[in-house]
Amino acid sequence: MPRTVIAQISDPHITGPGDELFEGSDPVGNLTKALQHASQRSNAVLITGDCVARAGTDNEYRGFSEVLASVDVEVALCAGNHDESEKMQRLYSLPSRNGRLDYVLAVPEGKVVVMDSARLGRGDGALDRDQLEWLDSELSDGVPTLIAMHHPCFATGGKALDSVRLDDASIVGLTDVVARHDVLAVVSGHAHMTLSAPFAGTTAYICPSVAYEFGFQGRNLMHRPGLPQYMEYSWGTGGSAFMARVVTVAPDDQWFIMESF
Ligand SMILES: [Fe+2]
Repeated sequence: MPRTVIAQISDPHITGPGDELFEGSDPVGNLTKALQHASQRSNAVLITGDCVARAGTDNEYRGFSEVLASVDVEVALCAGNHDESEKMQRLYSLPSRNGRLDYVLAVPEGKVVVMDSARLGRGDGALDRDQLEWLDSELSDGVPTLIAMHHPCFATGGKALDSVRLDDASIVGLTDVVARHDVLAVVSGHAHMTLSAPFAGTTAYICPSVAYEFGFQGRNLMHRPGLPQYMEYSWGTGGSAFMARVVTVAPDDQWFIMESF
């Protein structure tokens, strides 16, 4: 049986037509390249939030919609702190629960549980009791599952980022639920850097931003233009042989045969 392959693109931060860009970055070009590349090799493509640049304005979503319309790819969307969850549900006809962008994406050998960790007007994230109970019930069938949300569930080591991760109570609740089940991974974005850490008996991953990258220099949180990068998760029958890797789309994506098997 072929492996199930899920692509995770994060934090594209698409601006509206005419809006100012972050210095030197090419969010539209990078997202387009990543979507085209990922769609050729994946069963599903997921964008884990901060679909738009700053404030979830109609103009920003106009820009994001233009990118989606320019590529023949179906995407699953997650809400980030720069998004407006309810607006996304309306614009992209997304499923929801209790007004939140919580839904299950079925994939060939398993599923992705998409959770809405964004709270309007706040940089940090949260999951309430109802969401955690729903997650618990979704995990009880033993199907190989990825859990996806915008906000990371572990500390990244920088004050500026750790103050806007998933809040402490939500991390405690999520740890409790995940530890009771077999979960392939918990995947997020938000930190604009590539990280992983053990979490509640599985692994939590942070996907790099496809628009711009964060890094620490001394006491400063810096940013620079990002690469068209995304995460790829794959697994075999019953969730066996799970793997995660970063995919970078090179300018012309040129590969040369080194050895044939
Ligand atoms: Fe972001």
